Amino acid sequence: MKKILLTGGLGYIGSHTAVELLQNNYDIVIIDNLSNSRLEVKDSIKQITNKSFKFIKEDLKNKEALFKVFEQENFYAVVHFAASKAVGESVENPLKYYNNNIISSINLLEAMKKYNVKNLIFSSSACVYGDLDDLPYYESMPTTPTNPYGRTKYFIEEIIKDVYTADKTNNFVILRYFNPVGAHDSFLIGEDCEKPANLMPLVARAATGKLGKLKVFGDNYNTPDGTGVRDYIHVVDLAKGHLKALEKIADKKGFLNTYNLGTGVGYSVLDLINTFNEICGNKVKYEFAERRAGDAPVSYASSQKAEKELNWKATRSLKDMCESSYQFELRNN
Ligand code: WQD
Repeated sequence: MKKILLTGGLGYIGSHTAVELLQNNYDIVIIDNLSNSRLEVKDSIKQITNKSFKFIKEDLKNKEALFKVFEQENFYAVVHFAASKAVGESVENPLKYYNNNIISSINLLEAMKKYNVKNLIFSSSACVYGDLDDLPYYESMPTTPTNPYGRTKYFIEEIIKDVYTADKTNNFVILRYFNPVGAHDSFLIGEDCEKPANLMPLVARAATGKLGKLKVFGDNYNTPDGTGVRDYIHVVDLAKGHLKALEKIADKKGFLNTYNLGTGVGYSVLDLINTFNEICGNKVKYEFAERRAGDAPVSYASSQKAEKELNWKATRSLKDMCESSYQFELRNN
């Protein structure tokens, strides 16, 4: 069996990808420092898949410990999720983001080089596009991130490209996620964080009553209903995209490419609230508030390249996304 290292594998995207990999006969090792994830997710993954796997509580910034993991295991590939990912926090504390996200990635690439692991799938973000006027975003467009978090993802993408240039026998795939939302069909894993800043978990908590009124940041954007538009993608669709990326590089002797993982459709904040209210009977109460600093008015992907070259397409609807978020919140928070 091919053994895959998932860094940050107990996190939101990582845990859903772990499930897909285990259910497709990969062997996995998860390394996670639990800074933004819970150990219980390990048991949920095992319960969903009925498969066991090794978990290592470790920080990728601990280079010596990371090298020891590579020495002990014979990895076929690495899927690199581990990173700090809150845009607002990155503006307040940029050095935390540059230190954590970039140093970790350099340590990982050095370990891969030392132990001759050639295959990497990197978890990047639509944040690297910044706030471009042309829409949808294509992979060939300039990357001009507007916040430190987005810049860490941009810098790591560039480091990966330089490492590939130095050794073209590597197989590197960069996946740019748009807005991952929703929860696994079992509702045992989902977007599980103490203080969410992202819209979907906040709408879900407004629906379950855990949150009072939701604040809608801005109602005067140049969009159909004045509220921000994003390309929301179901986390299970996203996880399946990683499987396709691994299939793409199988048996390759040198590959580098970048793919948007989105649906190609933009929905507004009010679209999402209205969809939620159809599901849960109008429980989401909201009020309009000032725009949030750093927000782009509109962001959505062209996903044509991934559809064509990875034979991957998102299939789950906005209603599926909202329903699974709601059911996960009802059970877990
Ligand atoms: C979506 C829309 C807000 C909260 C973030 C990260 C990005 C990526 C995906 C990691 C916007 C509006 C939000 C609220 C609101 N994560 N909103 N009220 O900012 O597009 O992207 O998650 O890669 O790095 O920045 O997602 O969910 O925060 O916002 O009105 O209480 O919802 O203004 O229009 P965003 P979001």
